[in-house]
Amino acid sequence: MAAEIGAGREDIDDIEVDAFVQAMARRHGYDFSGYAPSSLKRRVLQLVQALGVAHVGELTARVLRDDAMVPQVIARLSVPVSEMFRNPAVFRKLRDEVFPVLASYPHINIWQAGCAHGQEVYSLAILLKEAGLYERCQIYATDFSDEALARAQEGIFPIRDARLYSENYLAAGGRHTLSDYYHARYDFMKLDERLKERVTFANHNLVCDGVFCEAQLVLCRNVLIYFSDALQDRVLGLFRDSLSRGGFLCLGNRESIRFAPSARDFAPLDAELRLYRNTGAAT
Ligand SMILES: C[S@@+](CC[C@H](N)C(=O)[O-])C[C@H]1O[C@@H](n2cnc3c(N)ncnc32)[C@H](O)[C@@H]1O
Repeated sequence: MAAEIGAGREDIDDIEVDAFVQAMARRHGYDFSGYAPSSLKRRVLQLVQALGVAHVGELTARVLRDDAMVPQVIARLSVPVSEMFRNPAVFRKLRDEVFPVLASYPHINIWQAGCAHGQEVYSLAILLKEAGLYERCQIYATDFSDEALARAQEGIFPIRDARLYSENYLAAGGRHTLSDYYHARYDFMKLDERLKERVTFANHNLVCDGVFCEAQLVLCRNVLIYFSDALQDRVLGLFRDSLSRGGFLCLGNRESIRFAPSARDFAPLDAELRLYRNTGAAT
């Protein structure tokens, strides 16, 4: 009888992951309860392996007692996968159709949320420089992982990625060669420091923090896919409140605003490229 009602390993994992989520929220203020459960569970189980603890219960016990573990836990639960000029067609569209509108503003604020290791923000900086807009811009690159932000600030990437990044840059409509913007040293490429002059890196958690700035362009690509529908809607509301009327929102190519109640506040500029404009319908 006991065996019939007893939980299998899968159920135990689910229960333990719930307890871990509670511990992270109540003890450290990082609330993962609005993340899509299956991918969160996968990452928690990977974390257990990476830290060499016996099971999720032991991980929970450790994070409850050891504050120093938290940055490492956050870094491993976040998925800081990115590339320069990822989906080049999106950057080309920004360059050809969004930048000319931004050019009408004397001062341009851009919020890039979920910046991971910074590949996207350096890509933006390069295209804005080539469009002659960079000096008028303030770019806020935010993430909830301090470790990711520290890496982003360094602007150092493996040289093995340079070829893909260069191809992407040209496909995005880059006017020079990408090597004009970095120095190669041993196995690494270091982006030109000047690309950071108008960038502020800051910690911001999309789950619980408020509007970050008033912006004419918000990019948040490949972050909402990790969130439940309700959390996606909260975050879209945050972007709507951050954007000036007519401001642009750029999401990842597997993300959609179609089913979110906040979608009524946005009109597609190019639905396939996940580019939208704030219509200000709610204001
Ligand atoms: C897959 S990366 C996307 C990187 C980049 N935007 C791109 O598309 O190439 C997802 C990033 O979202 C960040 N992230 C996850 N949850 C977050 C949250 N609640 N608040 C802010 N950033 C978050 C992660 O730390 C990670 O760096």
